Amino acid sequence: MGISVRYEGAVAVVSIHRPEALNALNRELIDQLDACISEIESRKEVKCVILHGSKNFAAGADIAQMADCDPEGAKAFAFSPVYNRMVQLPVPTIAAMEGYALGGGLELALACDLRICGESAKLGFPEIGLGIMPGAGGTIRAPRLIGGAKAMEMIFTGSSLSAADAERIGLVNRVVSDGDVLTAAMEMAMKIAKKSRAALEVAKHSILAGMEMTSVTEAVAMEAENWSGMFATYDQKEGMHAFLEKRKPSFADR
Ligand code: HXC
Repeated sequence: MGISVRYEGAVAVVSIHRPEALNALNRELIDQLDACISEIESRKEVKCVILHGSKNFAAGADIAQMADCDPEGAKAFAFSPVYNRMVQLPVPTIAAMEGYALGGGLELALACDLRICGESAKLGFPEIGLGIMPGAGGTIRAPRLIGGAKAMEMIFTGSSLSAADAERIGLVNRVVSDGDVLTAAMEMAMKIAKKSRAALEVAKHSILAGMEMTSVTEAVAMEAENWSGMFATYDQKEGMHAFLEKRKPSFADR
């Protein structure tokens, strides 16, 4: 189990590896991602970053680690600080997704600049079925990327999108054959890595700063408050325990 980084020329490849849990992201993995980000930041030769999970990108945050959190515990568990650092990496980032990209996994992909997925990938926000909502930028970044109505449909229904539908609505840049995702991401990264890092940095900064002018940072902070507050509800406990006990949740609407 782990998140590690390797380098191919000017491209950093970050790999998520927790296959037994479909790459569900626990605290340890997120701390390792944080360390990878620090290392990449210190390497001025890096011009593009790929984030990749083989077989599955990530089936969300680790439900077992969250299930019994109270709001303070949920706040401490939250991934937003690390995802925000991912967004702030000065060079372009690409999420290379196979299989499931759900919940906090899809939010991690949304914290990247570009997204490529395999044709069988499934992308969604199933949190509503657990009695919560996305809490690592999903309710903020998804509507900005795909529009409010599509984001609301995904978040309210919890239904996953196919790769083809995700491409159609602009959630992913490109769909490739299963198994070719890392190669396709590497091709795109190599193209980017031929460009001037100085120009890439200013271009990325300008795009992000422009989007911040509608204050994504304040919005994510607001989202985090709302998200962690949900861990005081009966339905969050019921939703997560039902998943862990492999049964259907029985919500009480409180
Ligand atoms: C913990 C998880 C997990 C998760 C899968 N597993 N997703 N464990 N947290 N998010 C584990 C299962 O418990 C199981 O472990 C193993 O991975 C294989 O999963 P199965 O369910 O047996 O596989 P399958 O039947 O193929 O179904 C795949 C699936 C399903 C549809 C992706 O696993 C699923 O619904 N997972 C939960 C998806 C989800 O709700 N994600 C959002 C989480 S909330 P065992 O030990 O039984 O083999 C979130 C909020 C983020 O992400 C907010 C920021 C912090």
